[in-house]
Amino acid sequence: MSDLVLYSTQQDVAVITVNNPPVNALSPGVPEGIAEGLAKAAADETVKAVVLIGGGRSFIAGADIKEFGKVTSGEKKREGGLHPLLYALEDSVKPVVAAIHGQAFGGGLEVAMACAYRVAVAAANVGQPEVKLGIIPGAAGTQRLPRLVGVAKAVEMCQFGDPVKVPVAAKLGLIDRVIERDLLEGALAYAREVAAAPVMKVRERNEKLGTAEENAPIFSAAREAAKKRQRQLMAPLAAIAAVEAATTMPFAEGVKEEARLFAECLFSTQSKAMIHVFFGERTVAKIPNVPKETVTYPIKRAAVIGAGTMGGGIAMNYANAGIPVLLKETSQEALDRGMKTISRNYAGSVAKRRFTQQAMDERMARITPQLTYDGFDEADIIVEAVFEGMALKKEIFAALDGIAKSDCILASNTSTLSIDEIASATKRPQMVIGHHFFSPANVMRLLEIVRGRETSKEVIATSMGLAKALGKIGVLVGNCRGFVGNRMFGPYRREAQFLVEEGAAIEAVDKAMYDFGMAMGPLQVGDLAGLDVGWRIRKEFQHLEAAGVRKPLLEDRLCEMGRYGQKTGAGWYKYDENRRPNLDPVVEDLIGQVRAAAGITPRAVDEAEVTDRLLYALANEGARILEEGMALRSVDIDIIYLNGYGFPAHRGGPMFYADTVGLDKVLARVREFHAQHGPLWKPAPLLERLAGEGKTFAQFDRAAAAGA
Ligand code: 3HC
Ligand code: NAI
Repeated sequence: MSDLVLYSTQQDVAVITVNNPPVNALSPGVPEGIAEGLAKAAADETVKAVVLIGGGRSFIAGADIKEFGKVTSGEKKREGGLHPLLYALEDSVKPVVAAIHGQAFGGGLEVAMACAYRVAVAAANVGQPEVKLGIIPGAAGTQRLPRLVGVAKAVEMCQFGDPVKVPVAAKLGLIDRVIERDLLEGALAYAREVAAAPVMKVRERNEKLGTAEENAPIFSAAREAAKKRQRQLMAPLAAIAAVEAATTMPFAEGVKEEARLFAECLFSTQSKAMIHVFFGERTVAKIPNVPKETVTYPIKRAAVIGAGTMGGGIAMNYANAGIPVLLKETSQEALDRGMKTISRNYAGSVAKRRFTQQAMDERMARITPQLTYDGFDEADIIVEAVFEGMALKKEIFAALDGIAKSDCILASNTSTLSIDEIASATKRPQMVIGHHFFSPANVMRLLEIVRGRETSKEVIATSMGLAKALGKIGVLVGNCRGFVGNRMFGPYRREAQFLVEEGAAIEAVDKAMYDFGMAMGPLQVGDLAGLDVGWRIRKEFQHLEAAGVRKPLLEDRLCEMGRYGQKTGAGWYKYDENRRPNLDPVVEDLIGQVRAAAGITPRAVDEAEVTDRLLYALANEGARILEEGMALRSVDIDIIYLNGYGFPAHRGGPMFYADTVGLDKVLARVREFHAQHGPLWKPAPLLERLAGEGKTFAQFDRAAAAGA
């Protein structure tokens, strides 16, 4: 047998151990190895039962996701999948006991469900997470699961893909025994208990499949929920249909229907995008010149300066992660306001039952509000989140240089200012880094980690690890204006405004992007974030603007009217007491005046122009960022957009989306816009090069990785 699966006997029980680190995915060789072990056990007369267990940190985390790309690219044929192994397990005369720790996910759970019994440690998780990859269970998960847990729960597990903890799974009938102590010992004992008992094959158990009348409301409610919570996604609907097939067809037919739906999903762009995102989220942690072994600083105490919108949220992140944090302000009033907001946010979570009152009290107790730098000399990290102004930031960093211990990380949450210039106010620029959180900082998953010219590898490695500890996804970016996310967001929002100036209706622009899959349209986002933020930045950077280049006109005018967005009750839209946006004739008038003053004759703008202008503005700027090395890979840009800007996962991110359109087509459109609208649309040289070579951004990433 190969090393991927080990076989041994413990007296009268055979033990088959999957040994494919790190997560025991069902890579080529693993199913074959299990089948071989099963055959050995069948042939050994002294063996009465079999235990199937995972070595290392989990049982089996599912199919090997890397293999899917080989199938869809045509490099590999998809053969019978896992079914032959599953039938062999289920038909084994000697009962097979799956012994689960860590995860039994996807194909892993499907293997376990074909076994006669399943035992597990309480800390393990089971689930069918395939929908999160844009596919559905492909090895009869949608057929065996309802036979074990009933239709409603099976639909929920396959539709949403969330893990289920073992104690819950045991109540559902998915786990036969929870093992308190050593898993293998417990599984062996269980195997001996059941060795002689008759076994009912899961595929033959129909008692939980319900009647058509009982099931109809379950499926219609699931489809309704998919419409609301899983907008545009095809896999959840396919998963529901596949479970439905289990209730209307014999097992073998249901398996065929599942296979048909699985293939439909697997070959879809949605699934390719979501698999790109799965690997992308892991790729961003890999930084070519910061090896995995880089020493990191322990972060046990934190301090935050500024208890405003961002500082308060950042402090909450530390408190949530169990790290005590000092929170400094300049006035008692600002401090009280900040603490009140934090307390209100926590109370909201308690009301929504996200955590208990006790957990809230513990979190609040970890935040120490203060007006001085007391205790800052003991902090392992200090995060500055004061007003956006270079002079103030430099003054603060100079002060910190005199207070902080030598191995304390000094982070700035600036959204536009140069980390190098901020670092120059200290004598330790190697300890200075950008930690660019996104608003609301306690909610948004993205953390842009901005590397300064002199930031040390240790500080970068610590920041990346810290992001994970805070429940964020950290993406390393270079020190340029707006870093990666906001630098691209500028052209995106600029085009949205230009389109309105040119004749598009406000709501048509927002609707086009919402229909594309964005969480919100670009003008609504402006209203949510505050139009004044960009207005202030534009004023600060006015001296950098090139003469003769078209500038958006409307948002400055809205700000001059005091329309900052939701915070003032009006911006692009007027907001009612429930924060619902309504069109406002005042803005229509303003648009008319601005068009007239600029000599623009309004024209019809169709939906395709809106999506192309906005999405290619992102891709074109993204290509520049990539070429300048401000993002390590195109997938890093995609992960930033998914986690910080509401870009839909099933589109894979702006760079992946451009790849799916075809870079030649994207370039052709960019050239068209360049001819129509001038220098802002100058094609990025990298886009021209890749399109010319018939390549994709993904190929650029692979070539860069190979060269690293
Ligand atoms: N296939 C291939 N590689 C996998 C994998 C899988 N199913 N699951 C994890 N990996 C890889 C990761 O890419 C990562 O690689 P890297 O170190 O090179 O970056 C490594 O294993 C470790 O993974 P994580 O960093 O994610 O480790 P964690 O401990 O944080 O999480 C986990 C472990 C919870 C198992 C998580 O990896 C996970 O959720 N994996 C995916 C599970 C899944 O979706 N399974 C269903 C697959 S589809 C299927 O089974 C179809 C079937 O129905 C036929
Ligand atoms: P804010 O105005 O809500 O809060 C800033 C706070 O800093 C105020 O409460 C102020 O009293 C306090 N402060 C000023 N000087 C101080 C000092 N010397 N010591 C202690 N406290 C001081 O501003 P906001 O929005 O929280 O922004 C803070 C930083 O975060 C800025 O650099 C901004 O660019 C950045 N940022 C803002 C985002 C947003 O969406 N608001 C998103 C990401 C970054």
